[in-house]
Amino acid sequence: MYASLKHVFLILWLVVACDGASACPNKCNCTWFGSSSSWLKVKCSGVKQVPRDIPSNTKRLDISGTVLSSIQEDSFRNLTSLGLIDLSMNLLKLIPMNAFRNLTSLKSINLNGNRIQGGFFLPQSIVNIEMQDNLLSFGDLKIILKGLKRIRMLDIKNNKIGPNLTKDVFAGFDNMEHIDLRRCHLENIENGTFHAMKNLSKLVREVCQEAMPETFLSFLEYAISHKHQKTLEGPSDQLSFLILKGNYIRTVADGTFSRFTYLRRLDIQFNLLTSVPDLSGLSFVQLLRFEHNHIKNITRLVTSGTKLLWSLPLADNQIDYLPASVFQYLSVINYIDLSYNKLQSIPDKAFSACGKLTELYLEYNEITQISRHTFTGLVNLKILFTNISGGIVASCCRR
Ligand SMILES: *[C@@H]1O[C@H](CO)[C@@H](O)[C@H](O)[C@H]1NC(C)=O
Ligand SMILES: *[C@@H]1O[C@H](CO)[C@@H](O)[C@H](O)[C@H]1NC(C)=O
Ligand SMILES: *[C@@H]1O[C@H](CO)[C@@H](O)[C@H](O)[C@H]1NC(C)=O
Ligand SMILES: *[C@@H]1O[C@H](CO)[C@@H](O)[C@H](O)[C@H]1NC(C)=O
Ligand SMILES: *[C@@H]1O[C@H](CO)[C@@H](O)[C@H](O)[C@H]1NC(C)=O
Ligand SMILES: *[C@@H]1O[C@H](CO)[C@@H](O)[C@H](O)[C@H]1NC(C)=O
Ligand SMILES: *[C@@H]1O[C@H](CO)[C@@H](O)[C@H](O)[C@H]1NC(C)=O
Ligand SMILES: *[C@@H]1O[C@H](CO)[C@@H](O)[C@H](O)[C@H]1NC(C)=O
Repeated sequence: MYASLKHVFLILWLVVACDGASACPNKCNCTWFGSSSSWLKVKCSGVKQVPRDIPSNTKRLDISGTVLSSIQEDSFRNLTSLGLIDLSMNLLKLIPMNAFRNLTSLKSINLNGNRIQGGFFLPQSIVNIEMQDNLLSFGDLKIILKGLKRIRMLDIKNNKIGPNLTKDVFAGFDNMEHIDLRRCHLENIENGTFHAMKNLSKLVREVCQEAMPETFLSFLEYAISHKHQKTLEGPSDQLSFLILKGNYIRTVADGTFSRFTYLRRLDIQFNLLTSVPDLSGLSFVQLLRFEHNHIKNITRLVTSGTKLLWSLPLADNQIDYLPASVFQYLSVINYIDLSYNKLQSIPDKAFSACGKLTELYLEYNEITQISRHTFTGLVNLKILFTNISGGIVASCCRR
């Protein structure tokens, strides 16, 4: 009897001791989550290294925004349940080659905002990769992405990947839905680079205005002009957002957008376009952003067949002539912004197809007079902002 009671105590002691072994590490908080509270979420701060006693059933590990400055090859060795790891906004410079290799449940990794240089392996299970604001090179990227097939989201914004991006890098990425290559110093994107990405819904390719070297001059100008028409090959007609803002695009080959019938937003602001590009095919587009270009001729807004737009910002271009036919055919619902152009006059009934338009901006042009028929048909207009030969005719217009 006494012996067996001693036995029970021994078992109790063991249970407590084991529980103690999975206690929360110093400087970390551990919380249970999930439907049956079966997963552990661990958040640590004020740590320079990955704590060595993180419970092995940890599903989410968050050591972000702190002073983490190094990780060891075996830092995560025991954490085989990890699904998400967030090491963003730290002081990491190097990731040991095999640090994440055995984490076969890992789906999301966030390394944003470190100073990481050099390649490392990621497990095949990975789906989301965030690595913006680091010092990764093209060679590093090739090592990191090698063999990964399940990626759906890749953010490598603001790394020095360029000048060249070759098509082998993204070759097997059939599941890619979102890729962000902004400010990656790219000059040449090889034909077919995005070829596998049939499900891409959001292709964001933007380069920074200020920090742009001279060599950028040919970037998307070539990438989507006749010579490199196939750059945009791949993304299916399901693409809904295409952002090419802030490049040096001068011309866009006819037919470039024609496959993207579901595109809702096309953003080409801050480029060097001299005329509205061919928009044929864009039957569902809602917002066309063309402001801050050198556009003179807007006739193609209608020759492409687009009939209805939500908004049309065209500010800060060189438009000196408003063909009467444009807004007598193209209906814009929310606003048209033609400010900061070179318009000298507006034809009568110029906006007759825009009965639903609520805002129209015409200030900073060279308009000297406006006839009383100019705005005929704009029965829903709430704001009209225009500036005629020094005098301002502002805010009108419910008639
Ligand atoms: C843990 O939670 C406490 C209370 O909410 C908080 O004060 C502390 O900063 C947290 N520590 C970490 C490492 O998140
Ligand atoms: C992993 O677990 C083993 C045995 O449980 C332990 O000796 C080792 O220190 C742990 N490693 C880390 C990095 O926590
Ligand atoms: C990964 O797993 C292999 C085989 O199980 C083992 O030999 C290796 O040490 C592990 N590497 C790390 C960094 O945990
Ligand atoms: C980039 O590509 C261009 C033209 O294809 C080539 O001349 C240049 O050497 C390449 N640069 C690098 C760093 O690979
Ligand atoms: C693309 O998305 C559709 C619908 O979400 C899905 O059925 C299909 O498997 C996806 N294709 C690829 C290649 O990922
Ligand atoms: C890219 O595609 C265009 C148009 O199909 C072709 O003329 C050009 O030779 C291709 N460039 C390369 C480098 O394959
Ligand atoms: C504007 O472009 C259209 C279509 O590309 C063209 O037919 C027309 O001549 C151009 N107008 C001017 C004034 O250049
Ligand atoms: C109106 O035009 C004058 C002269 O062109 C200019 O000085 C003034 O800033 C303009 N004001 C607005 C609000 O457009």
